[in-house]
Amino acid sequence: MSQLTILQYPDPRLRRVAKPVTEVTDSVRQLADDMLETMYEARGIGLAATQVDHHIRMLVLDLSEQQDQPLVFINPEIIDREGTQNCDEGCLSVPGEYAQVERAETIRVRALDRDGERFELDADELLAVCIQHEIDHLDGKVFVDYLSPLKRRMIERKMKKQRRHQQREAVEQSL
Ligand code: NI
Repeated sequence: MSQLTILQYPDPRLRRVAKPVTEVTDSVRQLADDMLETMYEARGIGLAATQVDHHIRMLVLDLSEQQDQPLVFINPEIIDREGTQNCDEGCLSVPGEYAQVERAETIRVRALDRDGERFELDADELLAVCIQHEIDHLDGKVFVDYLSPLKRRMIERKMKKQRRHQQREAVEQSL
C-alpha cells in the first residue's frame, strides 16, 4: 500500500470528468486500498479517485468511529433521491474550509464493490451527503461550486497563498 498525493483546490485536474471502470482488476483494487490509506492518514471520511489524479469512477468512504468499515463504490450512480438537507461540508482538497451545501436528504445508490459485485444501498444523513459530495468530484465538481462567486474567490485566494507558503517552506528545507 502506498499513500497518494491529494490534489488541492483550485488545481484544474479536479475539473476532469472521470471515466467509468470497465473491469475491476487488481490495479483498480490496489488504487482503492491506496485511496483508503491516503484518506485515513489525512483524517478524512471520503475520497474520490479524481482527488488523487486518477480519473476513473471510484470513491471510498468510512464514516465509522473506529475507521474500520471501509466502503468502496465503483461506477456509483444515484438512482433515486428525495427531500433536501443542509450540512456543513469540508473537503480534503480544500483543507480548513467548511460551508453549508444543500443536498438530497435520502438517496438510493447503485455501484460495484471492491470485488466487482453490483449492490444497491439506501443512504440518508451524513452517508447520503458524503456519497453526493464524492460523486460530484467524479463529475469535476467541488463543494465550493455551490457557494457564492465572492466566497469561492476568497477561498481560491486563500488556497493559492497557502500553497505558495508551503512551496517556500519546502525550498527552505531543501537548501
Ligand atoms: Ni471532497
